[in-house]
Amino acid sequence: AKEQYHEFVIQEASVTRLCREHSIMTVNGQFPGPALEIDEGDSLIVRVINRGRYNMTVHWHGVRQMRTGWSDGPEYVTQCPIRPGQSYTYRFTVAGQEGTLWWHAHSSWLRATVHGALIIRPRAGVTAYPFDAAGKPPAREIPILLGEWWDMNPIDVVRTATRTGAAPNISDALTVNGQPGDLYRCSSKDTTTFPVKSGETNLLRFINAALNTELFVSLAGHTMTVVGTDASYTKPYSTSVLMIAPGQTTDVLVTFDQPPGRYYLAARAYASAQGVPFDNTTTTAIFDYSSSSSSGSSSPAMPTLPAYNDTATATTFTTNLRGLRKAELPSRVDENLFFTVGVGLFNCSRGQTCGGPNNTRFAASMNNVSFVLPSTVSILQAHYGGAQQGVFTADFPANPPVQFDYTAQNVSRALWQPAPGTKVYRLKYGAAVQLVLQGTNIFAGENHPIHIHGYDFYILAEGFGNFDAATDTAKFNLDDPPMRNTVGVPVNGWAVIRFVADNPGVWLMHCHLDVHITWGLAMAFLVEDGVGELQSLEAPPPDLPLC
Ligand code: C2O
Repeated sequence: AKEQYHEFVIQEASVTRLCREHSIMTVNGQFPGPALEIDEGDSLIVRVINRGRYNMTVHWHGVRQMRTGWSDGPEYVTQCPIRPGQSYTYRFTVAGQEGTLWWHAHSSWLRATVHGALIIRPRAGVTAYPFDAAGKPPAREIPILLGEWWDMNPIDVVRTATRTGAAPNISDALTVNGQPGDLYRCSSKDTTTFPVKSGETNLLRFINAALNTELFVSLAGHTMTVVGTDASYTKPYSTSVLMIAPGQTTDVLVTFDQPPGRYYLAARAYASAQGVPFDNTTTTAIFDYSSSSSSGSSSPAMPTLPAYNDTATATTFTTNLRGLRKAELPSRVDENLFFTVGVGLFNCSRGQTCGGPNNTRFAASMNNVSFVLPSTVSILQAHYGGAQQGVFTADFPANPPVQFDYTAQNVSRALWQPAPGTKVYRLKYGAAVQLVLQGTNIFAGENHPIHIHGYDFYILAEGFGNFDAATDTAKFNLDDPPMRNTVGVPVNGWAVIRFVADNPGVWLMHCHLDVHITWGLAMAFLVEDGVGELQSLEAPPPDLPLC
């Protein structure tokens, strides 16, 4: 295993999108940021130097970070932000994971432009690509980052929303590798083009880096075979459309076996909430294997994408995914948890005017707790130093405080008034955890891509309505469930996941729609340090930023 050193200089750069020039936050002046490419087992040392004008942290999304919680990155959870002029060095090893992950800013909404791919290849002589009989890599590997573009500075978008309590603006464009594509104004000459070779099979590494949009993705004329999600291999699954939620990655094989030509890759929103505004535009990129005779000015073939509200297609895609190998699950369950996830409303304080529905402020919660980040010290530092008082409490509830029909519409707000708090749920080292994530329909039923830091988990089952242990337990796939770090809890439905708490530290769990994390749809697990030197948390690095 090798070690790679990188410097990430956070700096402003000027880019032109949708006819106008903008100054955006970048890493090393690049947007999207630099791709990191490693082999399984390698270590990364990344020094982040903040020459921008905002506080910054970087999160290595999906990296297990075994006992390296100080390098995880969510601001005020595992570290204080790196202030302008300061730097911090992240150090971690990527072991037992292969495929596609990514990195992104984990401070306010800076991840809109501060993100990039993290590609983990098999370790030569140790592991191999499972989808090729000889273990050979595909002819080409193409990282494809799907994103959202705002004409307004994303920091100002979220600041305005936080001040007024209203829903933030939706994005002005969806993007492929930072470019909206030729269906948007002033964008056609910068459309992302992937030159490919007729007859070749390539590995496309999709990352949904959008802030708030789940995406349907299709490639005109070509079948895609999913071989991995979130850096875990899946049984090969062939499909004409992918659904990727923010935070998730999907690796697919495509054979360019159609008549030589140009083919559109297109992505558009899957918007599960009814009556909630969303970016309804379509981003395109072009796969080009035109021969000299087929090239020219004819426009590329366009794929058919599902309707924005096609929940059946979205659900079919995700529930058809299976882990490549048999699950390694303990037969016992030590912690049986049930967390609701949903968007609700806070009352407006007296004398104020609020921008949410009927003079309220938007709020979101898990088990009715609307998560508030600390501001003077990170939760991990407070835990490590044994000084949690005034920073967090360890009383996050294992079950919702009130039970009702979570998916019914127009549930009385008196029954379910989110309460702000910085609460963690304490897990014993090594505990086998089963967690039911139950969507609620307090404001509107909606999918929630729930992401856990520091862990991968198995998705045992998903369904609609209220989870009912008496009948739904029979639906659990204990044989070959997919392993992920982000699960889409279906609109007005539930998902059940399992993991073993084998990684000590403080690990944020949150909805990967940034608008929802802004509103408090988060909590943290505090996993005890266990016994014996190997399991204990190391001391904080000397350059850990202070608040
Ligand atoms: Cu991809 Cu908490 O993040």
